[in-house]
Amino acid sequence: MRPKNRSTAAPVRSSKTARKAGRRHPLATVALLAIGLGLTGGAYAAFTTTTASADEPAAATSQSSVDEGKKLFESNCATCHGLQAQGSSVAPSLIGVGAAAVDFQVGTGRMPMQMQGPQAQEKPVQFTDDQVKALAAYVASLAPGPSIPEQKYLDGKGNAARGAELFRINCAMCHNVAGAGGALTEGKYAPPLTGVSAQHIYEAMITGPQNMPVFNDLNISPQGKADIITYLKYIQNNPSPGGFELGSLGPVAEGLFLWIFGLGAIVALTVWITAKSN
Ligand code: HEC
Ligand code: HEC
Repeated sequence: MRPKNRSTAAPVRSSKTARKAGRRHPLATVALLAIGLGLTGGAYAAFTTTTASADEPAAATSQSSVDEGKKLFESNCATCHGLQAQGSSVAPSLIGVGAAAVDFQVGTGRMPMQMQGPQAQEKPVQFTDDQVKALAAYVASLAPGPSIPEQKYLDGKGNAARGAELFRINCAMCHNVAGAGGALTEGKYAPPLTGVSAQHIYEAMITGPQNMPVFNDLNISPQGKADIITYLKYIQNNPSPGGFELGSLGPVAEGLFLWIFGLGAIVALTVWITAKSN
């Protein structure tokens, strides 16, 4: 933009010929602007249609499934989320949350929510797999959103060491290094991650339930997410080999343990030695 501005400013301070040339410049600017806008708009349209088509597999589930989902939604969810899933004073809109959010929330038993509270509680799942799929298909049909993850990222065959590193950087501050969970503010908590299915772990990352941030593919690539899942499955199946793990709470717990028991033992020993020599 800058060189163009300089050339339109030029006629003001120079000769007649330059002014003549300058008169054409505004038109050129307009043309350039139009071309520029056209290109950006075109690129944007192309981009949005590719994202939409990337979400297609979930949205493309049969119309009957969507219809069934709509019925289930109206009788189980609409009281809080609104008849068109538009949201209400008690629950957020579900337009654009995608199939992944529904599969996560309903598949972990958080939804339909029963008790008002700081955080939706996990309960036994209230629907069959097919009904969960139908609900997800219905919500996905309203607007594109994150779809159910592909199986190839869920087999737990990624790189556990890389997953551990990603987990320490992105998740450990809330969920604890060993995925044991932890308390947050205002009665909320990050739940323990043992026993959570690979699909629900992936969906939690792409939908960011409640206080959890969304980790889109730019933050953590799909392969990175697969590595995190691999790490979580690894620590679940291979409990700490190093004796006492002290709840894996980290250096504070370990330091405190040493302070009380280590130092305590030394003090006791000293007392004992001096008592003996007397
Ligand atoms: C009693 C009210 C209530 C009912 C019934 C209910 N929800 Fe919710 N729902 C909420 C509230 C409140 C939240 C946000 C709080 C939270 O996430 O902890 C929420 C959040 C959600 C989210 C997460 C939205 C997001 O932005 O990620 C989804 C998906 C969802 N509900 C789906 C459903 C579905 C599907 C049903 C029916 C099977 C349902 N809910 C029934 C109250 C309700
Ligand atoms: C800012 C804190 C925070 C960070 C960072 C965070 N989470 Fe969470 N996470 C939460 C909270 C809060 C919930 C509970 C949401 C709810 O119950 O609605 C949660 C829920 C989950 C669940 C669902 C557990 C279950 O029992 O169903 C999984 C899986 C999960 N997180 C994985 C991750 C992973 C993997 C990362 C890192 C990539 C991460 N989280 C980063 C706060 C966080």
